[in-house]
Amino acid sequence: MRIAIVGGGTVGTALARALKGSGHGVVIGTREPEGPRAQRLAAETGASLAAPAAAAAGAETVILALPWAVAQDAVGALGDLAGKIVIDCMNPLGMVGGSLALTVGHMTSGGEILAGWLPRARIVKTLNQVGAEIMADAARLPQRPVMFMAGDDAAAKESVARLLTALGFEPLDAGDLTKARLLEPLAMVWINQALLRGKGRHWAFAAFHTRS
Ligand SMILES: NC(=O)c1ccc[n+]([C@@H]2O[C@H](COP(=O)([O-])OP(=O)(O)OC[C@H]3O[C@@H](n4cnc5c(N)ncnc54)[C@H](OP(=O)(O)O)[C@@H]3O)[C@@H](O)[C@H]2O)c1
Repeated sequence: MRIAIVGGGTVGTALARALKGSGHGVVIGTREPEGPRAQRLAAETGASLAAPAAAAAGAETVILALPWAVAQDAVGALGDLAGKIVIDCMNPLGMVGGSLALTVGHMTSGGEILAGWLPRARIVKTLNQVGAEIMADAARLPQRPVMFMAGDDAAAKESVARLLTALGFEPLDAGDLTKARLLEPLAMVWINQALLRGKGRHWAFAAFHTRS
């Protein structure tokens, strides 16, 4: 599968590293494909580099690893993503009343708002629930971290579930895209533990099954 990672920041870098050797063709969509940071990442991971719109145009699956604050403009600049699987890693984080919070509230979600910008894309909300270090390392952990997905397209979720499995996660289907309203607050649970309660960034949620 040809995968575009749009945004070569913390998450984009972690996923490019995690996908090294996966057999997928990875292109990083970055604003500065000629820049030293992107060039180093490409040399390290074997990913190719392109401007964001060109990367997305050539991919079947597009991973959005952008800050929420710039997402509407950055996604708008990608062009028509009709029919493509779009993995939404983004959490709509910001300061609300002096605290880090979901700026869109709890009666909608970043995933649903993204679907409004990309009505013909097959959006799957996932890879938003743990830190980038876990995304890079999930395949090397002693237990598979759980990774929930939410989306309206069953075939897209099956494809993303295979990708999550290859990354080392145990994928669990949370339901339709409105369930992004559950998954974005779940990210806040992780952030609260990691950053505000001293647990650090090297942990993840796991599912414990008492019956198969
Ligand atoms: N960091 C985590 O552990 C983590 C975990 C789960 C989810 N998330 C979510 O994933 C998303 C990405 O997080 P991140 O930590 O990877 O962010 P980041 O390190 O700031 O990287 C975001 C990237 O987006 C690209 N970008 C495109 N247009 C931009 C603009 N106008 N301003 C700034 N950057 C722009 C940049 O890549 P280029 O310079 O290559 O274009 C930038 O490096 C966020 O929505 C975050 O909430 C993060």
